[in-house]
Amino acid sequence: MYEHDVLIIGAGLAGLRAAVEAEKLGLNTAVLSKVHPVRSHSCAAQGGINAALTDRGDVWEDHAYDTVKGSDFLGDQDAIEVMAREAGDDLIELEHMGVIFSREKSGRLEARAFGGQRVPRTFFVGAITGSAMLHVLYEQAIKHDVRVYEEWFVTSLIIEEGVCHGAIAFNMHTGEMETIRAKSVIMAAGGAGRVFEPSTNALICTGDGLALAWNAGVSMMDMEMVQYHPTTLAGNGILLSEAARGEGAHLLNSEGDRFMERYAPEFMELASRDVVSRAEQTEINEGRSINGNVLLDLRHLGKTFIEERLGYLQEVAVEFRGIDLSEHPIEIRPGVHYIMGGIKTNVDGATVVPGLYAAGECANVSVHGGNRLGANSLLDTIVFGRRSATAAAEYIKSVDSAGRSEEHLDAEKARIQALLDRPKGIRWAAIRNELATSMTEGIGVYRDQASMEGADAKVDEMRAKYSQVSVENKGKVFNTDLIFTLELDYMIDVAKTITQGALMRKESRGAHSRTDMPDRDDKNWLKHTHVFKDGDGVRTETSDVTITQWQPVERVY
Ligand code: FUM
Repeated sequence: MYEHDVLIIGAGLAGLRAAVEAEKLGLNTAVLSKVHPVRSHSCAAQGGINAALTDRGDVWEDHAYDTVKGSDFLGDQDAIEVMAREAGDDLIELEHMGVIFSREKSGRLEARAFGGQRVPRTFFVGAITGSAMLHVLYEQAIKHDVRVYEEWFVTSLIIEEGVCHGAIAFNMHTGEMETIRAKSVIMAAGGAGRVFEPSTNALICTGDGLALAWNAGVSMMDMEMVQYHPTTLAGNGILLSEAARGEGAHLLNSEGDRFMERYAPEFMELASRDVVSRAEQTEINEGRSINGNVLLDLRHLGKTFIEERLGYLQEVAVEFRGIDLSEHPIEIRPGVHYIMGGIKTNVDGATVVPGLYAAGECANVSVHGGNRLGANSLLDTIVFGRRSATAAAEYIKSVDSAGRSEEHLDAEKARIQALLDRPKGIRWAAIRNELATSMTEGIGVYRDQASMEGADAKVDEMRAKYSQVSVENKGKVFNTDLIFTLELDYMIDVAKTITQGALMRKESRGAHSRTDMPDRDDKNWLKHTHVFKDGDGVRTETSDVTITQWQPVERVY
């Protein structure tokens, strides 16, 4: 058995930022991750991190308002104010830790334009911002002696008398299951993009943290808000950063038109993501597509500029399509990228379960609402990763033990053994694929009652099939067959919360665009949706959105 003050599940940007803070506050801190920390999905974030820096006349209130409007007024404004207000100091602190942000010739940090924002306030490291930040935070974690359980997989949280006291996890190297007790747990296990197929997300983004918290009794809030990124590579869903449009790339249809003129005359290609994805999907649906896609055109930016500022995109275009972006446009389409919904927390990352905190993509502090602005996710990880560690440190002052009961480990061992002992059955891959493709079909850029009901019924069918799943590899060391099977269990739970959230919301708002209810309905639906686990079923509720200073208005770009 292992014991810590704080156990952080997930070693992406939110987890590592929380870990560094917790160590600085003198806590005995551990991070657990199913992959090596720098392989966490944060490493795939490309375009940048937002902050309103006053040295260029920007103010946090403008950043906050752009975020509120981007969220289609579903984001809680108190939380958005916290994030926008604290962004500048957090950005500078990252720079001081060693993140080499791009600079202007004068030496000042350089900002690029990003969608849904009235001024350039996205700070970047070429098109590898997430990776640069992740490596620096990992260095910091090592420097601060954070204990890292690398390639460990959590199978359940330890909840005793309603309080979280750690987790039961697999050491993937040995196959042994272990108890890791902790006075507090920060869930920072990332998103669930692979509940959909295709997706920009890494194969590891299976919603583990969301499902663990859901099974511990926490609400999954606004799960219907699934972001489709406007520029993903046709066929495999690889991300082509919004930075391309931020630097001036155009979107064209089969007739060569810059169609965004008709959908967002002022912001054009830099309208918010939900708006641009809907515009693309409409062009595709109405027959102005190229092989069911539209085009991203960077030719006018020139080869040197593309290679200097957007080198990673050029590499993807060459490697996957054999295209030089300075010579040819590239086929793209909207693809699943991010989940705005998640584990409901307050602005300090606290959930309703004492001792359980959450930060990053798995959490829903409610700063993204119905649609996240590009480059606000990296900011969310840093601000709320840090804040959740501070809050956990305060909480554990009143906790004298990390719990005692030993039953959890035995129960989990028996559950996993029963799965391994099952004779031949259905393989995880078939269920995962059927689940993910039907989620994309039913909970798409556009959706309606019938499509959402279809996806919901498919989730139930996949849950029934899962009861017959079998693991062929009975070995202990790096049994990925078993891990993928356990991940699938989490994915089915998360899918259920998404379809149920979607069926609840009887309007169109942000990423939830219903063709059968096309209007936003502030009178009845300026509300969050909540899906709770209830026995073998679900229970749903709504709650009010927090408005501080910005009343909802019509959203035009
Ligand atoms: O397009 C991008 O670079 C993605 C950024 C983000 O999702 O924040």
